[in-house]
Amino acid sequence: MKKVRKAVFPVAGLGTRFLPATKAIPKEMLTIVDRPVIQYVVDEAREAGIEHFIFVTGRNKGVIEDHFDVQFELYDPLAQRGKHDQLARLQRLQPAPGQTSFTRQQVPLGLGHAVWCARDLVGDEPFALLLPDMIMQSERSCMAGMVDLYERTGSNIVAVQECDAAEAHKYGIVGKGDDVHSGFRITGMVEKPRPGTAPSNLFINGRYILQPEIFEVLESHERGAGDEIQLTDAMLKLQTRQAFYGYHYKGRTFDCGSPEGFIEANVAFALRRPDIAETMSGVISRLLEDMQPQAPS
Ligand code: G1P
Repeated sequence: MKKVRKAVFPVAGLGTRFLPATKAIPKEMLTIVDRPVIQYVVDEAREAGIEHFIFVTGRNKGVIEDHFDVQFELYDPLAQRGKHDQLARLQRLQPAPGQTSFTRQQVPLGLGHAVWCARDLVGDEPFALLLPDMIMQSERSCMAGMVDLYERTGSNIVAVQECDAAEAHKYGIVGKGDDVHSGFRITGMVEKPRPGTAPSNLFINGRYILQPEIFEVLESHERGAGDEIQLTDAMLKLQTRQAFYGYHYKGRTFDCGSPEGFIEANVAFALRRPDIAETMSGVISRLLEDMQPQAPS
């Protein structure tokens, strides 16, 4: 079985839900506490043993490439001023030379198309796919658990979580079959099901391990929901010749594609940061108290 060495990050999205913040800054560079969203996702991949990071970017996303580069004009002064902790943290988060690749999705034709744009950089091996809108919080990362399941089962792995029936139309939803190791057989998949038609309440949470044959399926550029080239449709086709397993992730997921999810992620991560957790929980309590109606005097 081939090891999962590479990860793909589709980061070409326009981020219109975050305008005006995303007029000049990619949405993936908005910060959760003090790290950009994209850094969380790359760190999750690295923790799972990924060695090469492939970014599918678009226009006005150059700053993502800069973020993962060495910045001498910052590193040198930090060293001279004795700020070794800060410098060491930056260096720890930095991919090693040659560990990143960048390509562009020239036209926004959907997630399936963005993934297909990475075909030459991935080559003939299984790869991880992490959607940067989704940020996870747990002791052990979602992708690390998926790599374990992959090493037991091979084939394709899709991470899922439960959602309210009313939310199912926003996501890809899978059908659940027999349990296998720490996962289950996926029996079907549907992208953005119409209300009342979802096969379960298990939604695809934005983490995948896929076999390279997915690129052959994506080659046909077939359009699906929203007139976009959908990855879920391609996976459904590949399922006729390869197994798909579901990995039921039990941690928290924040959908940072919406302002509410993004703010929730900021609060949740701030409350887990030992250096600011106490202050922040005091701040949040005071703000909530201020919102209570005052008793008449
Ligand atoms: C994409 C996938 C969908 C998945 C979702 C998770 O949808 O197509 O299957 O559930 O990401 O965020 P999008 O958010 O791009 O509409």
